[in-house]
Formats: sequence, structure tokens, C-alpha cells
Amino acid sequence: MIYKIVKTTFLALILTSSTIFGQGKLSDKYNLMPWPQEIQSNGNRVKIDNDFTISINKKEGRVYDYATNIIRRITNRTGVFVDKGFPLVNEQKAIVRVSFDEVAELKLGVNESYELNVNNGFVTINAKTDIGALRGLETLVQLIDHNENFFFIDGVVVKDSPRYDWRGLMIDVSRHFHPIEVLKRNLDAMASMKMNVFHWHLSDDQGFRFKSDTYPKLHELGSDGLYYTKPQIRDIVSYANERGIRVVPEIDVPGHATAILAAYPELGSKDGYDYKIERFSGVFHPTLNPINPKVYTFLDNLFAEIIPLFPDVYFHIGGDENEGKHWDENHEIKKFKNKKGFKNNHDLQTYFNIKLQKILAKYDRKLMGWDEIMTDGMPKSAIIHSWRGVNEGFKDGTLVEAVKKGYQAVLSNDYYIDRVQSVDHHYLFDPAGGVQLTKEQENRVLGGEVTMWSELVTPLTVDSRIWPRTAAIAERFWSSKEVKDLKSMRKRLAVVSFQLEELGITHLSYRNQLLRNIAKSKNTESLEVLTAIFEPLKIYTRNEGGTEYKTFSPFTLFADACVVDANDAYNFNLLVDSYVSNPTTERSRELQSYFSKWKNGYSKFLELKNNPNLNELGNHYKNLSLISSLYLDILKGEGANKARTSDIEKLVEELKKPMVDTELVTVSGMEKLLKGLKNQGDIK
Ligand code: ACM
Repeated sequence: MIYKIVKTTFLALILTSSTIFGQGKLSDKYNLMPWPQEIQSNGNRVKIDNDFTISINKKEGRVYDYATNIIRRITNRTGVFVDKGFPLVNEQKAIVRVSFDEVAELKLGVNESYELNVNNGFVTINAKTDIGALRGLETLVQLIDHNENFFFIDGVVVKDSPRYDWRGLMIDVSRHFHPIEVLKRNLDAMASMKMNVFHWHLSDDQGFRFKSDTYPKLHELGSDGLYYTKPQIRDIVSYANERGIRVVPEIDVPGHATAILAAYPELGSKDGYDYKIERFSGVFHPTLNPINPKVYTFLDNLFAEIIPLFPDVYFHIGGDENEGKHWDENHEIKKFKNKKGFKNNHDLQTYFNIKLQKILAKYDRKLMGWDEIMTDGMPKSAIIHSWRGVNEGFKDGTLVEAVKKGYQAVLSNDYYIDRVQSVDHHYLFDPAGGVQLTKEQENRVLGGEVTMWSELVTPLTVDSRIWPRTAAIAERFWSSKEVKDLKSMRKRLAVVSFQLEELGITHLSYRNQLLRNIAKSKNTESLEVLTAIFEPLKIYTRNEGGTEYKTFSPFTLFADACVVDANDAYNFNLLVDSYVSNPTTERSRELQSYFSKWKNGYSKFLELKNNPNLNELGNHYKNLSLISSLYLDILKGEGANKARTSDIEKLVEELKKPMVDTELVTVSGMEKLLKGLKNQGDIK
């Protein structure tokens, strides 16, 4: 059945395009993310009722299975009972008619474009490849809207294709192991955001996660029993492929190799060293010995075992953060360097990398590595994975250096989501940002990758660190450079964030589980008040020096229940800005309702039975409650005097202090408000 609201006579007027009215306008209406390259509103609507059907022009390829899932997601979202909860093939009268020309081989640069047209009564999605059709189906799901009576697909014409070919998410499964189901739900979420590379960081100092038949000690001694079997890896690669997502494995060498050396110490650079799986975070010295031929035999055999599991042509060898301490301490290595005329360890690492590149070439694989691999002699077929940025502390940065030297490059700097920075920060960072590049150089920027380093995350919390910020970054990778309005992004992200839960992502639901555990009670309301204004400490200050937390430390703490971009804090700080510039009664009332919430929250908190988890929280909460009472008095015009100003200032200083690895993000707003109230003469 069709619901059409617009008379055709008005069609010309109603056809509003992004070019005519600007992206901001249409994005008020549609909660699409990533925002499409071209979109027009045509005023049509297709109602979703029991007649809803999806038909595909052919059954081969990825679309049929994907569409089954899409129908399930639509019925779950809407609550509509459909008569045909399975896709049809070549059914001309279907409500959604998907058509693609060819089944694509999944590889870098595959055509992902599609066109979506909401017509008078039906929707068409046309694509060159089946992968393009999947991207179109995700847009379809995001176009579902409702009024008070029914659900419908909003009337638009979309022409879309990605800006970048490489739109990745790296998950580090070494620092903390993440089981298959965690990876699968994240692959689903990636596909919903049109992301297309899963970079699997399989080894590091804290764990080697591949069950090797050739070198079984790797998982027996280097993994604490937490690893993936070959069938599990095949399962993930196939699951990703069905969603148009490439999988790039990483075995990080020659540094970050403690777990490998815990299993095979004879491959290390320091004789007699007691190699043990690393439990802390940081950069460590255990390093493969580049002058030991057995190291290359080992890597050759290991790659021979791993590579058949991963059809993608790129293989990531890590290569980062080798400080070469154990190389410097090895007399034979020193002699070797002298003999070869190597000036430094960089030269030696180049020697090592080029040997690896040749091994990989034997298996038809191309090398990718962190930007330290970019040394003279590295073939231009290698992809440079820039983690040290565009312009941070380096002349023009490693991404720019790479593309200027003729390498293709992928950017991760500023997409380090484990640094717990605001979504605004990541979103505004453009992979080919402020530096002047030629067209050719710019084309070598393949895209970007979000990095989820997992020192401080477990399967319980990892989703809350990846999402929803990664959705906004996915937009940066897919959409036009001009799509950068923060307000629009935040509005759409709020909706998308909610929808990610449909895919099993637990970034919202996990919190209650953690808070119940902290409170030892199901009455978590008073703690929820806090998680809306506290954020985890940022940019690695939570685990300064890498020694506060070990791999097996608890990650069910208050800081884990907090996330960046804490909602109430963000809104409160904005409200303070507007109140200070124009102190209306309405705004005063809104501020009062925040302060009441915090004051009352503390009263509820006191009802929780004391337990050791709550003591430090209690001290801070008490201060928050006290300052809230003072502000309430002032805003209500009761009892403003000098003593109270200094009381507030004292409390602000207390509240500025980190609390159990979190910070109160309303402090800046509170300070600003105090200043504003003083200027207004509400308080001396
Ligand atoms: C890295 O963050 N060491 C790639």
C-alpha cells in the first residue's frame, strides 16, 4: 500500500536538493549517517504495512541474505507484521526493488555506489555491484520515519558513493581478547555505517590470538587460553565479506612481540631474557632478532598458515614503536649493523621489513604497516598506516610525507577513539586536511581507520568506546568534505546511536549492568545522574605510565560506566553559555532543574547501602549536592552573599579534582555561571 502526501503540481517546488538548500536543511529532516553525496526530497512516502516486500533482481551475491536481515530489522523497528518476511526474486510489484549488475569481488576500490529512489508507491535501489546495493539498503533503513498512525519510508532521491575507499575500524584483541560475537556485532554496526575494512590486530605484547598448528606454543604460552581457531577466523572473514567488509590481519613485528617471545624466546634479541606475557600497558623492549635466519623461517611459516584464511591482498605487519633497546644491547646485532654499514636501528628495521615484504610477495600479499615502516627501500606497493598524524610534531606529518613520496596511505591519527575525546574532535578531522596536496597525492590518501586499542576495554565495555563516535567518523570517511556541521551531526548521531542497539551493540545498555554491580542494588538512578555529567579521564591520563591497570584489573568501575560526550554535561554547559549572555527566567528555571537533579540525586544516593565501591563517589557527590544547593539559592534569589561566593569557589576546586579516574565535565560551566552571576550582581 502506498501513502503519497504530495500533489504532483507542487512537485517542482517540493524537489528540494542539497545543492539548493544546503545540507543543513535536509539533514534537519532526515537522520541519515553517513550523509549521502546527493539527496533530494521529492515529497513521496511509501507506507510500511503488511504488504511490505523487498525483491532483488537475482539471488546470487550478497544481497538476498542481507535483505532477509533488513526485513527483520524493519519489522523489529516498526512492530509491523509483514506477510512476506523474506526477500523475493525479480518480483516487479515489490515495494522495494533492488537491482545490481554484478557480484563484486571484495577488494580495495570496489564500486560501492548506489541510487535510491522513493517513487510513487515503491522504492528502487540500483547499483553496479551487490555491495553498492547493501549500502543502499542501509540508507533505506535510515529513511524509516513515522507519524502518530503509521511508519513510512521518506520520499527522497539519493545518488551516493564513498569519498574514500578505505573506511576502517581496527580492534585490538591482544590487550583484551574479544570473542567472536563481539566482533560480529561490531561488523554489523560497521556495515550499517557503510564502513568496509576490519583491521584485526591479532598480536601484541599482551597476547597472541591465533591458534597455530605450526607453532602451537604461540597460543599455548602466549595467549592465556584466549585465541581464535581457524574455523572461527574463517567465520569472521566470511561474515565480514557478506557485509562488504574486507578483513586485514595484523601480526605486529619486530617490536610489540613479547607474547611471541614468551612462546619462542630463541627468536628474541636478548639472550637469557625472561620473556613473559606483558600485563601492563606501554612500549616494551622484547624484539625479534633481525639477524637470526630462524626469525624469517618462523615468519614465513606463520604467514603461510595465516594468509590462506584472509583473502585480502593486504597484510599488516605492524612495525611500530620499536625503540631498539634490545638490539643495542646485543653485540652480534651491533657487529652486523657495522658490517652492513647501517647507520641506525631504522636501517636495520628496513632490512627486516624488506625481507618480510619479499615473504609476503611470495604469497601474493602486499605489505601494510604503521608509519615507522616508511624508510628508503620500502617498495611503493606498501600502504603506510599513519598513526603519527598529519602535522603533529612532524614536519607535515607522516600521512603527507607518505603520499608525497608516492605511497598510498591510511590515516588513523585523530581517530584514536581510545583517547576518549569528544566526537566533535574526531569528526572535524579530515584525512586530507589542511595541507596542500596535488590531485595525484590526494588520490593516494585511501581513507582512514578508527583505532580501538583495548588496554582499558573488555567485551563488556568495548562497544561504549567504539560507538556512537565511530558512526560520526564513518561519515567523515564516506561523505563530502563539506558535510561538517556539528549541530547536524550531533542531532543525527543521537538517532543513529539509538538504532545501533538494534544490531546488538551494547553501548547504551551495558551501563545499567555496570551500575547495578557498583551499587549492589537495582536502584541505580542516583548513579545514572552522575554518569550523565562525569567522563573518563582523557588522552591516556586514566592509566598514566601504563601501570595503574593490568590486563586482568577490573573494568567494571565507575569510570567504565562513564562515556565521553556526557549528555547532561554537554547540555548544561551550552545552557550556561546562553544564560550568561541572556539570563531569561526560562533559562534560570532550566538551570535550576539541573541543580535540583544533582541535589536530589545525592539524597537518593544516600539510600544505597554503603559499600566500598561508593565511598569516594560519596565524597564527590556530597560536594556536588552542596554546590547545587548554593546555586539553587542564588538562582531563586535567596541568600546571595560574599561568603557563598567563596564557598562555591572552594567547592569548584574540590570538584575539579579527578574522581576514581573520571572528571566532572560541568565544572567549566559552573565556573562560567559563577562569573556570570557576579557580573549580573546576583552574587557578590
Ligand atoms: C600505535 O599506536 N603504536 C600504532
